[in-house]
Amino acid sequence: MAGVRRSLAGEVNRPPGQRNREHPADRRNISPKGCPVRIHLPLPQAVSALLVATSAYVALNAQVPSSSPVGAAAVSHDRLVKAHAEPASWMTTGGTLQEPRFSPLDQIGEQTVPNLKLAWFKDIDTERGQEATPVVVDGAMYVSTAWSMVKAYDVRTGAVLWEYDPDVARAKAADACCDVVNRGVAVWNGKVYLGALDGRLIALDGRSGREVWSVQTTDTAAPYTITGVPRIIKGNVIIGNGGSEYRVRGYVTAYDAETGRQVWRWWTVPGDPSRPYEQPELARAARTWRGDAYWKIGGGGTVWDGMAYDPELDTIYVGTGNGNPWNQGIRSPGGGDNLFLASIVALDPGTGRYKWHYQTTPGESWDYTATQPIMVADLVYPRGRRRVVMQAPKNGFFYVLDAKTGQLLSAEKFSPLTWATHVDMRTGRPVEVDSARYEITQRPVIVAPGALGMHNWHPMAFHPGTGLVYVPVTVNNAAYAAPKAFTLNPQGFNTAVDFASGAALYDQPGAPARGNVESYILAWDPVKGKEAWRIKNDVYGASGLLATAGNLIFSGNHKGEFSAYRATDGVRLWTAPTQARVVAAPATFMVDGQQHVAILVGARGLPDGQTRTNPLSANNSRVLVFKLGGTAMLPSAMPTTGAGAPRIRINPPLATASNEAVIAGEQAYAANCAVCHGATAIPGAGSIAPDLRYSGLLPIRNGWNPTVRDGDRAQRGMPGFGARLSQETTDAILAYVIKRANDEKAEQSAQQRP
Ligand code: HEC
Repeated sequence: MAGVRRSLAGEVNRPPGQRNREHPADRRNISPKGCPVRIHLPLPQAVSALLVATSAYVALNAQVPSSSPVGAAAVSHDRLVKAHAEPASWMTTGGTLQEPRFSPLDQIGEQTVPNLKLAWFKDIDTERGQEATPVVVDGAMYVSTAWSMVKAYDVRTGAVLWEYDPDVARAKAADACCDVVNRGVAVWNGKVYLGALDGRLIALDGRSGREVWSVQTTDTAAPYTITGVPRIIKGNVIIGNGGSEYRVRGYVTAYDAETGRQVWRWWTVPGDPSRPYEQPELARAARTWRGDAYWKIGGGGTVWDGMAYDPELDTIYVGTGNGNPWNQGIRSPGGGDNLFLASIVALDPGTGRYKWHYQTTPGESWDYTATQPIMVADLVYPRGRRRVVMQAPKNGFFYVLDAKTGQLLSAEKFSPLTWATHVDMRTGRPVEVDSARYEITQRPVIVAPGALGMHNWHPMAFHPGTGLVYVPVTVNNAAYAAPKAFTLNPQGFNTAVDFASGAALYDQPGAPARGNVESYILAWDPVKGKEAWRIKNDVYGASGLLATAGNLIFSGNHKGEFSAYRATDGVRLWTAPTQARVVAAPATFMVDGQQHVAILVGARGLPDGQTRTNPLSANNSRVLVFKLGGTAMLPSAMPTTGAGAPRIRINPPLATASNEAVIAGEQAYAANCAVCHGATAIPGAGSIAPDLRYSGLLPIRNGWNPTVRDGDRAQRGMPGFGARLSQETTDAILAYVIKRANDEKAEQSAQQRP
């Protein structure tokens, strides 16, 4: 498979994984330009004092370092620790190592933001979810996309410096619970670091995109995936993984950034008790588990997203995931806290030594991960300033912990959750609602939130000026029920939850609205532990956030807009069309004295009423970059395709079906699918649905059936056809689409020839 893709790219002679394009003409020195950044904030005095005290705003250097060539990625620990004082760059996906997603830049502010316009944009050649925050340093912007690809752009022009595709086997999509996404890269000492979906950690040369080293961080026989961002602390690349719906045991690992050699690994849950525990605290953790199903299935607790680092305390905070299976009655019959599931864990980044932990949901049974974004901040309490760690995990409580000791300072409901009444501040434990434990009562129950959580991976932002944390909240619920029997599914999900038998509960009087109820941007006061205000979304869904000293917060939405709101009261001051759904978070930086804001757009399907305008991506995936007075324009319709038009390399499975099946499939396709996916399986200008020829589901019947027959994506506008079409007919449609994909492949190969 990989060979075909490489030969299609015309780069047969390159070693594996090095299919990249260099544009030497775009490499040049950026001349230094004086661009002093004004920092004046309408801040309360106490907060201004705090900012000075924490040196957050001192020694601002908003110039692009003059000595670094474009793509130098000359990032050191010192530079990372002082990233807040160099706001010309956006050096980590979270902005700084503390990950507040706040920028001290204010050229784009309340007064000027109405003049914010598109500076440049670049089409992205995948049509799955785009979740990455751009990283910008030394004149280059690095973005990862679906399928773990990396793009490097010249920040001034948007010219492509290089592109890298790790050639993740498309069948790996079957192990990814939540799409083949990637949330961003890290940069360090001339290199760009990527966690690939198939579990590889890859170091790329910042200027050429060539692979420097690559290590397999997971057992390739197990359904581990990586979608999260590597963090680089003092020369160690720290990376977790996902897969807790399947059958894996969670851990986080540090590798030497120069060599890829493993430095330490910290396991989140105990393994086989007949073998020695890898870390001392696992012996203690094992006493909180029952039975032996957990270590045989894996236990879960994967570290798939949130982490943050405090340079003052030299501590990395890591969020751990849900239990595997979800249902605690199967995973750990008889209960127990099941450490260290659903916890924030403080570790020494040099050694991986455990410092403390706080478990948000002891004995979790609803997929309540605590992998959501974590941030380190200084909060100003009436009694003085405190260094804290904050998280708003899936379970619906907003936690504030002392960064040094892990002491719980606040745990308040930020959303209408129903599984617990409150957190007991004396014990630090939630006080559960008994009926929520479906595995104990053996009765189906509607619980809020459902598995996607009141807040998921979508980044929140902290504004030290307003003192508020802005959280993308998704209010939802689900009916949980214990299954009649549980048998391990070696291929797919192992939740041990029966989602069907509780469905009837929604028909009862007084039942809540089913599923996804509403979504909004919540402004949360972490000192008072309560809501300040909220901005309701017209279309349900979460999108990542950015806060700036211009008294602004930036966020996309699922209606197809990118907007700026006043940070103090949420009034919308500016909006621009994105032509795509937005889930990722923005970044901001300076180019030649001008502040820019960048956002990656594109997620499942298109916003209502939006047509396709990107020849490379059915969901209009793009990088959009804005500045004051920009003059670029998004296309209003699909640009004409044809010879020379850019295309994604296609990689279909072999066409093995009979002619009869393909012909039957062609007819059934025309009658049932063409209306949305385009005639002859080629989406046209008015097509609302993705190009099926490029679907990652083609090689996997297990993937095709849930979408096409069972209606798994009905909510996203893809109806299930199980009741209307026979298995034979949908198999025939699959055969036809595979045939059409192979036609496309032949055409691409023909164009590739000189
Ligand atoms: C009413 C419009 C509509 C019709 C009719 C329709 N689809 Fe879809 N389909 C969609 C949309 C929208 C999506 C994107 C869903 C998402 O965002 O996950 C989709 C996605 C898919 C996907 C997933 C592609 C991927 O790789 O993510 C498959 C497979 C698919 N459709 C197959 C079919 C087949 C086969 C038929 C005909 C039997 C069909 N669809 C008919 C709207 C439609």
